[in-house]
Parts: sequence; structure tokens; C-alpha cells
Amino acid sequence: MMIDTNVAEKISDKAEKSKRIVFLTGAGISAESGVPTFRGTDGLWRNFRAEDLATPQAFERDPKLVWEWYDMRRQNLLPLEPNKAHKAIADIEKTGYEVTLITQNVDGLHQKAGNVNCLELHGNIWNVRCIDEGKIFENMEVPLSIIPPACACGSIVRPHIVWFGESLDADIISKAASAAENSDLMFIVGTSAVVQPAASFPLLARQSRAYVVEINPELTPISGIVDISLHAKAGDAMPYIAEILQDI
Ligand code: OAD
Repeated sequence: MMIDTNVAEKISDKAEKSKRIVFLTGAGISAESGVPTFRGTDGLWRNFRAEDLATPQAFERDPKLVWEWYDMRRQNLLPLEPNKAHKAIADIEKTGYEVTLITQNVDGLHQKAGNVNCLELHGNIWNVRCIDEGKIFENMEVPLSIIPPACACGSIVRPHIVWFGESLDADIISKAASAAENSDLMFIVGTSAVVQPAASFPLLARQSRAYVVEINPELTPISGIVDISLHAKAGDAMPYIAEILQDI
């Protein structure tokens, strides 16, 4: 796949005048690694009911069921590797631009690709949180030997993931919003842009006169407000974008 020369020139022209670049990613960037999206044809929310598995009420009602579902997702995720799109963003982070990566993904593939600064809006599936003490720690046990897993204090832990009806971490939102407001160039990769507040960051960037590029094979609610909507797979487009940015 090649990016249209006109589009490549526009991105190159904007990048030349840019210092701060923001990437906002969603499940689509991990699709080519084999991670299911949420709302696509085989999306998780097509096959599972979010209200039974990803709400605080569901966890209170049946922590075992909720953990079995996360245990299954963790088993599926463990062998998966970052793809060309994750790697392209990790490469761009190593250049002279000031890069902020904001992700809605909980799969940890950006870090596995080598990204150091990653604002995880929705948490991380490899972290757990004590429901009593609130302590957060890594748990990489796959499959889990005891479900639900426990904290050293004796309480059970929950996935450190933001569920429907819960608030996001205020510090992370404020860092992400300020990165969007101060960005010169923003790339939105593989998100359906229907979940807030992530979906509003492109608007914040546009209002602050950033140049905004969307990469998604399908149209989304924000396709109409961005400067360029690139209908491409992340793994095809992102290596070209990394090349354009690095050639400057
Ligand atoms: P969605 O499943 O809603 O959207 C995935 C998007 O990726 C769609 O717009 C697809 O067209 C696009 N896509 C698919 N394959 C792609 C590819 N190869 N390259 C680029 N784009 C591709 O996922 P999100 O927008 O991430 O929340 O969903 C947002 C949140 O809703 C998730 O973080 C999750 C979910 O409930 C939590 O888990 C807390």
C-alpha cells in the first residue's frame, strides 16, 4: 500500500512545522496482531454482553465469571506480538519530535513494541487492583491458577481496567487533554471514536489548530472533522508515515 503522493506531501509539509505529535490509538491498531476489536464483525461486544462482563455491577454480582472472561482474553493475548503500526509509533518516539501516545487499548502491545511514554486511558489487562486497598500490581499469570485472584491482604483483586460507568483516572485524562491541546500534529489510528472522552481529543486538537490525520479502513463519526481521513489499515499506513516523519 502506498500513501497518495498529495497526502504524503501534505503530511510532510505539516510535520516540518511540527514539534509536538500526538497518537491516539484504539483496538484497530492491534487488529493485525490478532487482537479482536470491540465493534467490528467479530468484535467482542458483538459476541459478549458488556453489561455482564465489563461493569462494576457485573463484578460485584459474579467476580468469577468476569475473571474467567479476562483470563480467556489474557490467554489469547499472551503469544501476540506488536505489528508494523505499533513499531512505527515506537520508532517515531525515538526521533526528535515530542511524542505523546494516548491509547484506549489495554493489551500492552505499545509497550511491547518499545514505546516508553504511553497514556493508557482504559488501564492495562496485565495489571490488577485490590478491591479493598486499591493497590495496583502486575499479574502475568496465564492461565490464572485461582479465580478470582487474591491480594496479599486476603481480599480479591479486579482487573485494572476502566469499566462502563466508571471514571477514568483524572491525572491521565488531564495529561492526554493537554497533549491534544498543545499538539501540532495528531494521528488517530484504529478507533471507532464513539467512546468518550477519547473521542473528544481530536476535537480539542482541531480547536487548537493542530493538523489531524485519521487512519482507519472505515468512516467514523470524526472522519468529517479531521484534515485527512486515510482509508487504510494501520499496518500498511503507519510505516509510511514513520518514514515521512523521519525523512524531515
Ligand atoms: P472499536 O472496536 O470500537 O473500533 C475499532 C476500529 O478499528 C474500527 O473503527 C475499525 O474500522 C478500525 N480497524 C479495524 N481494523 C483496523 C486496522 N487493521 N487498521 C486500522 N483500523 C482498523 O475499538 P475502540 O475504538 O478502541 O473499552 O473502542 C473504544 C473502547 O470501547 C475500548 O477501549 C474498549 C471498548 O469498550 C474498554 O475496554 C474500557
